[in-house]
Amino acid sequence: MDYKTYIAQRVTAEGVSQEEIVEAIAVPPDPALGDYALPCFKFAKILRRPPAAIAAELAERYPTDGVVCEANAAGGYLNFRIDRTGLARETVRAVLSEREEYGASDVGKGKTVCIDYSSVNIAKPFHIGHLSTTVLGGALYRIYRFLGYTAVGINHLGDYGTQFGKLIAAYKRWGDRETVQRGGIHAINDLYVRFNNEANEEMEREAREYFRLIESGDKECNEIFSWFKELTLDYVKGIYEMLDIRFDSYASESFYIDKMGPIIDILREKGLLTESQGAQIVDLEAYGMPPFIVLRSDGASLYATRDLTAAFYRKQTYDFDKCLYVVAYQQNLHFKQLFKVIELMGEEWAKDLVHVAYGMVSLEDGAMATRKGRVVWLEDVIRRCVEKAQAVLMEKNPNLPDKEEVAKKVGVGAVIFGALYNNKIKDIVFSYDKALNFDGETSVYVQYTCARANSVLEKARAEGIVWSGETVPPCPQEFELIKRVADFPETVLSAARNYEPSIVARYLVDVAQRFNKFYIDCKIMAAEGDVRLFRLSLAEATLITLKNGLALLGIGVPEKM
Ligand code: ARG
Repeated sequence: MDYKTYIAQRVTAEGVSQEEIVEAIAVPPDPALGDYALPCFKFAKILRRPPAAIAAELAERYPTDGVVCEANAAGGYLNFRIDRTGLARETVRAVLSEREEYGASDVGKGKTVCIDYSSVNIAKPFHIGHLSTTVLGGALYRIYRFLGYTAVGINHLGDYGTQFGKLIAAYKRWGDRETVQRGGIHAINDLYVRFNNEANEEMEREAREYFRLIESGDKECNEIFSWFKELTLDYVKGIYEMLDIRFDSYASESFYIDKMGPIIDILREKGLLTESQGAQIVDLEAYGMPPFIVLRSDGASLYATRDLTAAFYRKQTYDFDKCLYVVAYQQNLHFKQLFKVIELMGEEWAKDLVHVAYGMVSLEDGAMATRKGRVVWLEDVIRRCVEKAQAVLMEKNPNLPDKEEVAKKVGVGAVIFGALYNNKIKDIVFSYDKALNFDGETSVYVQYTCARANSVLEKARAEGIVWSGETVPPCPQEFELIKRVADFPETVLSAARNYEPSIVARYLVDVAQRFNKFYIDCKIMAAEGDVRLFRLSLAEATLITLKNGLALLGIGVPEKM
């Protein structure tokens, strides 16, 4: 049962939505105050009364029952006490019967969410800067599916622009088939870097000519370019596999080239298009923004033009309820302009477009790397993290079976969790040591907690003990754990509402910490009778919850660690 929702449904405050109440309900820092609390400060403005008066009034009206047995006002807070045994029983039973489905729901049934994420550029390094969009988008994709939505993962590949003319020019000058085939994306990138280092006017002209040839459908140029695309995709797909990332569409920028016409026509018909220095633009001055350039003076389209066309295509193809763009905050203006233009075109669905912006990721030793002009390839970060994980595991548990498999789950998990743990808009500095700290706020800490729970359950099974959600009145440590386990469904909903997978990541660390306190203070196997069965049920419910949560982030759980 989801207690926050349960409580919220019985709070009646006119002008405040149910959702706002659920979102506001928190767990007081001191359990003596209550099990849940509704801070009323936020509502003072809407209800035009001081928070304390609101809390008092709501307390008066609140219908207590067998689940919520007390509702008391204290200052600006409305504190709730719930029937602890009831909560323990309901929660443990729900988790043990729903298992992999615990936390799932069908709130999204019949609704479609498009998620544009990762969206790499052909022939360019897949570097540490792509980590966030990839794992954030991947997590949102899984979260939405878990909530019953139809999620459409879209990799809006960057495969259009004059830089691809440069690439062909460089290949023609210095490249050979074998080296590129063998070196893949690295070899292609080397060619590109060399071209930029050595470029002169003659070469620039060549590049423009090759780009023109690609556009005009020249067979040879397009063959080379398709081959580069293929090599890039082969490479990134390897990384996607490691990170458990999936896409339903790889519709790239060039896919929209022959679809732009009708969209530009609409702009013209609606009188939105004006000419400025030969370029076709939508003037956004009235909205405090620079113009949205649709066609350059030479008639070429832009990144923005293709995004505009893609938005219409997606609406038509998927009839989405929401379309998310998981793209760095450097593109804030681009998306503000894009959404504004669609709104000005009179499309009511402009309101369903969301830029899920995130901050930068850099490496602890990244400053050095950039000074040397090196890019940090994401693959290298993952590999190094897996190697380090293996070393740490070796030291901790030299007899661990399947060390390599475990190290992979731990290492990959650490990279994902490192990128997802903080509020997405923050810039983060990735540190291998911090990410692999067994005692930190890390995935390895959560995974280790799972292994711990797993081992106690195995031991009990080996002794022939059978449990199935038996419940006794919980002690404080048990209660602190179980009520947090009960929060999982609401946590997942909140992560989706806020486009914020870190809500799940932080939740998992909290549950793991509570489990470990319970594990140490309440000896599971030393207890007897129903107390022991309850504790085993609780341990299993915790394990299921942690596993489900990690799975949403794309992180696997080793049986043993
Ligand atoms: N390829 C772009 C980049 O690397 C990101 C594309 C994001 N998606 C979009 N529809 N604009 O900056």
